[in-house]
Amino acid sequence: MAYFGPSKRDESEGENVGTRLAGKTAFVTAAAQGIGHAVALAFAREGAKVWATDINAAKLATLDGTPGIQTRVLDVLDDARVAAVAAEVGTPDILFNCAGFVHGGTLLDCTEEQWKFAFDLNVRSHFVVIRAFLPGMLANGGGSIINVASVAGSIKGIVNRFVYGTTKAAVVGLTKSIAADYVRQGIRCNALCPGTVDTPSLGDRINANADPVQARKDFIARQPMGRLATADEMTGAAVYLASDESAFMTGQTVIVDGGITI
Ligand SMILES: NC(=O)c1ccc[n+]([C@@H]2O[C@H](COP(=O)([O-])OP(=O)(O)OC[C@H]3O[C@@H](n4cnc5c(N)ncnc54)[C@H](O)[C@@H]3O)[C@@H](O)[C@H]2O)c1
Repeated sequence: MAYFGPSKRDESEGENVGTRLAGKTAFVTAAAQGIGHAVALAFAREGAKVWATDINAAKLATLDGTPGIQTRVLDVLDDARVAAVAAEVGTPDILFNCAGFVHGGTLLDCTEEQWKFAFDLNVRSHFVVIRAFLPGMLANGGGSIINVASVAGSIKGIVNRFVYGTTKAAVVGLTKSIAADYVRQGIRCNALCPGTVDTPSLGDRINANADPVQARKDFIARQPMGRLATADEMTGAAVYLASDESAFMTGQTVIVDGGITI
């Protein structure tokens, strides 16, 4: 019988090391939990040397001791710290820009502070982190940059996600612009657009509702497969975009959304 549940890789496979990213170095932001965490582990399982970074030192420390992973505390809103960490780690072959925050609400709900914070974290930080590594990538002859956007805003209008969707559309614009500028210099830049992924911050958004049980049902209801994604289900596309398997691919939005945009 066909299987329509979450992908079946489990922790018992965690020690298996593949070779799809062997010899490559990866830099991951927002790696302490959720998609960034799953992707940092997946990159390491595929043989990459991974720099896993996050603002949350305590949660990031859970990755310490994982084969192939080194951690550094990094607030991507702190330009000086971005430059310092970049100088320390050197030039990665793969940059996975994952930091982001979801504000709820419509245009009329959005405050100036929310607008500024959302653009600073969801868009400007990508600019700052990429700017820190791009000269080295160009000097090395190339690299793969993957920016985490979303289906929200960039692919499909989603209710009550005004500033979030606006910033994620900007991430797609940033991605395509970089891809166009550096396509002849070995730089590939693609955007990963997830649907609804069951991560700690989604749990926070659900629990912030008056009726969290109904809120979870509502999130599930907008997913045609009748369930949320696991963070692990984002790693297949991330490894593909990071690896040479996608060598002819740049400037694309890769949608992994369980059919939300059908
Ligand atoms: N979860 C979803 O349904 C979903 C869907 C589409 C896109 N996304 C995007 O995926 C990315 C990750 O989201 P998630 O839900 O997997 O994780 P999450 O929101 O649960 O965790 C985010 C991580 O980012 C870190 N972080 C926050 N501010 C930071 C900063 N200034 N500097 C460095 N790190 C910082 C946090 O400490 C945390 O570890 C975000 O860009 C989000 O917009 C998520």
